[in-house]
Amino acid sequence: MTNSLLLEKYNTPVPRYTSYPTVPYWDEKPVAEEAWIAHVQDAFQVDRGISLYIHLPYCEKLCTYCGCNKRITKNHGVEQPYIASLLKEWHLYLKNLPGRPLIKALHLGGGTPTFFHPDQLDTLIRGIFKHADIASDVDFGFEAHPSSTTRQHLETLYNLGFRRISVGVQDFAPEILEIINRQQTEEEVQQVTEWARELGYTSVNYDLIFGLPLQTPEHIRTTMHKLELLRPDRIAFYSYAHVPWIKPSQRAYSEVDLPLGPAKRALYELGRDLLEEMGYVEIGMDHFALPTDELYKSMKRGTLHRNFMGYTPYDTRLSIALGASSISDSWDGFVQNEKNIEDYQKSVEQGHFPIVKGHLFSEEDQIIRTHILNIMCRYGTDWSDPALQTALFEDIIVRIEELEADGLIEINGQSLKVTALGRPFLRNICLAFDARYWQKQPGGKLFSQAI
Ligand SMILES: C[S@@+](CC[C@H](N)C(=O)[O-])C[C@H]1O[C@@H](n2cnc3c(N)ncnc32)[C@H](O)[C@@H]1O
Ligand code: SF4
Repeated sequence: MTNSLLLEKYNTPVPRYTSYPTVPYWDEKPVAEEAWIAHVQDAFQVDRGISLYIHLPYCEKLCTYCGCNKRITKNHGVEQPYIASLLKEWHLYLKNLPGRPLIKALHLGGGTPTFFHPDQLDTLIRGIFKHADIASDVDFGFEAHPSSTTRQHLETLYNLGFRRISVGVQDFAPEILEIINRQQTEEEVQQVTEWARELGYTSVNYDLIFGLPLQTPEHIRTTMHKLELLRPDRIAFYSYAHVPWIKPSQRAYSEVDLPLGPAKRALYELGRDLLEEMGYVEIGMDHFALPTDELYKSMKRGTLHRNFMGYTPYDTRLSIALGASSISDSWDGFVQNEKNIEDYQKSVEQGHFPIVKGHLFSEEDQIIRTHILNIMCRYGTDWSDPALQTALFEDIIVRIEELEADGLIEINGQSLKVTALGRPFLRNICLAFDARYWQKQPGGKLFSQAI
């Protein structure tokens, strides 16, 4: 099948598979607090350690393309009460964990973590660490907006054990930054990168996006050229997710300005080729890393994992997420916190886990999740072990045979491998395994396009 026919066939709305089951397919009934506590207690293993995610939702200015859960405000008076709520939520967990937690991974996401003053972040992290042990080999990182990250932020977090930063770049071109209402300069990106390296951060990631309004191949070429000099260790090269029915701010620009279908795919292919020429290796979906980076090493070791934040080098099984809208994972269940900040704070204040929805896994979910993670992290999966099969495999086989006929995968007995042609279509390959989707296909718009 030619590239354009493949694109026509597979560029449909598909989940990004940061979880399985995907959020729209979680159980409709909420997960009771007691049930969640029991799952967390079961998943807790002192020596395996836990991952922590902390959602810091505030930003000073709205970037109109943004799909994240955030609150726009210039009032920094919100910092202290929000941090107090996070620490209260952490204490709810501590009261219920069967032992002292060992923290192996910590990620500050948002919104904009660097909206918070470094002293507030210091109070937060020290408050968390006071009741936990810290593993000898940790993965601590944070999302840094280039226009609000100061040297003091980098120093404070370095002193707390952070060695990885993820800088939101998206694109360098002023006309693109303007149309998406993003305030930042190239000099700021360069400055943050230099400070991080001087201080001893070992992994600098840049978030880039292809498919932004007005973006052309020339923009991708320019961006990649600038990377040659700055040489970030990792790159997240995201496909712009256009979901204006969920994020109305994306209506601020005209859809006519969006590169779509083959034009969007060409931006990805150009970016990928230029990155590979510079020595970056593609990791799963959307990510690239230098062979010296931990993400690449974990892919080689076979420990690469994917969760709600994207790819991580470690899989701790228990991942506790604090803050409004964040999602925790006990490996056999997910729960999501209240998205509204005030409701989140009220719930924690009253001594309740601020959970609004969740999903406890069936045996079948667990099997499907394993295959989807294998495809996303290892470009292949194997179902020769009967414990990795379900009654649904008959249907799955029919769907993957079609993928094989189109050249996206190769099936060998009871295993499959993604081909080079299939890599841009990883989401579609996972979809073939997504039992819940096929049992109840969405009536309305739920997901962004595959490309
Ligand atoms: C929470 S933001 C990063 C931290 C900080 N707020 C900033 O903007 O620099 C997370 C990342 O999600 C990505 N992102 C946000 N909206 C997106 C969209 N609609 N499509 C694709 N990626 C998106 C961007 O690359 C962004 O850097
Ligand atoms: S891209 Fe970052 S700074 Fe911009 S609105 Fe989204 S979370 Fe906030």
